Amino acid sequence: MTVTGNTRKVAEAIFEEIKGAKDIKPMDEVTSLETYDLVFVGFPVMRFGPPDAAKAFLEGKAKGKRVAVFVTHAMWADLEPLKGILEKCKDPAKCADMVGFFDCQGELSEAVAKSLLNNSNPEMQKFGMMRPKTMGHPDERDLKAAKAWARQMCAKK
Ligand SMILES: Cc1cc2nc3c(=O)[nH]c(=O)nc-3n(C[C@H](O)[C@H](O)[C@H](O)COP(=O)(O)O)c2cc1C
Repeated sequence: MTVTGNTRKVAEAIFEEIKGAKDIKPMDEVTSLETYDLVFVGFPVMRFGPPDAAKAFLEGKAKGKRVAVFVTHAMWADLEPLKGILEKCKDPAKCADMVGFFDCQGELSEAVAKSLLNNSNPEMQKFGMMRPKTMGHPDERDLKAAKAWARQMCAKK
């Protein structure tokens, strides 16, 4: 799932790295996962956790499947809420068999930053102010790390 394209960039980098039969699609176009051995499920952090559609996907269609979950977000490594928010993103994968988790920063688009700054919730406004520290992500380094992670996931039995 992607709104502004960041998670798509990571998904495409991961997809390039997968050998053998593979398929890449938006979550809402997936009908059944029955024939897949491993499913990479990616989504952006939204409002301090996983978007409802991603939660529903992990708890529904991906239930019981081997999944490798990846997320993009506006936070940087030592930002206080990062750990807790990432745990919230892993939560719905408890219904599945999660083989691994990857996260990286994704640029907060100008339009999104503006709308967050206009939100009445001060916590949302704080996120709106994070845009300068997110610019250019996912960058080459993020994509390289995503590819290395994907290779590890594929090698897991
Ligand atoms: C409505 C909305 C809420 C967001 N909330 C958060 C948040 O709580 N924490 C965060 O780190 N990033 C938040 N973001 C930023 C996105 O997670 C980040 O820009 C991500 O890379 C977007 O991925 P995409 O381009 O694939 O949609 C939010 C973005 C939107 C649009």
